[in-house]
Amino acid sequence: MVSGFMYKKQILKTLHENKGEYVQGDELASEMGISESQLTSEIQELGENGYEIELSTENGYCLIKTPNRLLPYELERDLPTRYIGKEIHYYSEVDSTNEVAKRLAHDGAPEGTIIVAESQRSGRGRRGKKWLSPSGGVWMTIILRPDIPPSKAAQLTLVTGVAVAETLDQECRLDVGIKWPNDILIGGKKVCGILTEASTNPEGLEYVVVGIGIDLNVDVDSFPPELREGATSLKQELEKEIYSVKLVQRFLKNLETLYDDFKTGKFPEILKEWRKLSKTIGSRVEVRKKGRILQGEAVGITREGVLILEMDDGSLRKVISGECIHLK
Ligand code: BTN
Repeated sequence: MVSGFMYKKQILKTLHENKGEYVQGDELASEMGISESQLTSEIQELGENGYEIELSTENGYCLIKTPNRLLPYELERDLPTRYIGKEIHYYSEVDSTNEVAKRLAHDGAPEGTIIVAESQRSGRGRRGKKWLSPSGGVWMTIILRPDIPPSKAAQLTLVTGVAVAETLDQECRLDVGIKWPNDILIGGKKVCGILTEASTNPEGLEYVVVGIGIDLNVDVDSFPPELREGATSLKQELEKEIYSVKLVQRFLKNLETLYDDFKTGKFPEILKEWRKLSKTIGSRVEVRKKGRILQGEAVGITREGVLILEMDDGSLRKVISGECIHLK
């Protein structure tokens, strides 16, 4: 975690408000009620975190550049949400943001709390797979506490998928689509995965943690060959670095809007959006589940988010979960 969070937040607030101008060090220090030497060490630490802050002996400090990192001070500023992302837990490195989220949720963290890490040592994917999480990606988990039966928790994966796809579409104007149930694709290659985990108690659903992994400024070429083939990153698609803070802020806003709709019974409307974004419906697919393989044409998705396959003999099969592969 970045230490001295409150002081740095205050320093950055003042420097951002006076962007392009100099702020006198003695005035800033006395405004904050700290010594000038403490101010110097806080500013030094900000420099270590990638902030470019110029010091002129005559005029004071001037913010030149903010780092392309999901630091809480950056995420919080101008975040247009009411409750998602209002509490941020930031780590430069962590085992898995989903694991941290579960601990925090168990200890009572409020709905909308987010956990962000720059890299994960043991990122987890669906179906027990590892999730490669080098720095440059967005590795984040959101704690939700919806008042719904546990059986409906999986629907939040689809809601989140729509929020990610909308965000990438708005930010990058690329061919974004969703592969059932939760892979976000660009031009047929996976750019984001979602891992939803729910905890129940005798009264029902206790909390849901929704983990999102976006290969943003990641070099897919550094992935092992078996992962490289079907994967892409935004940086690779756009051939430039993407500013992660703006993208995540937009995602959190989109998610909050959709989640509010979800809580007021508008899942059918969200599914309509999901269907529009779906690359699975209308494709010939293979679904693998517990050693069983089904092949057919994906013809639809039910109100509950269950995939409907038309088998070669014309019969219809419903698939609740599994690994879906689009066949050429
Ligand atoms: C998938 O298999 O497609 C789901 C991948 C989910 C990865 C994200 S990264 C943030 C969060 N923490 C984890 O350990 N996993 C999820």
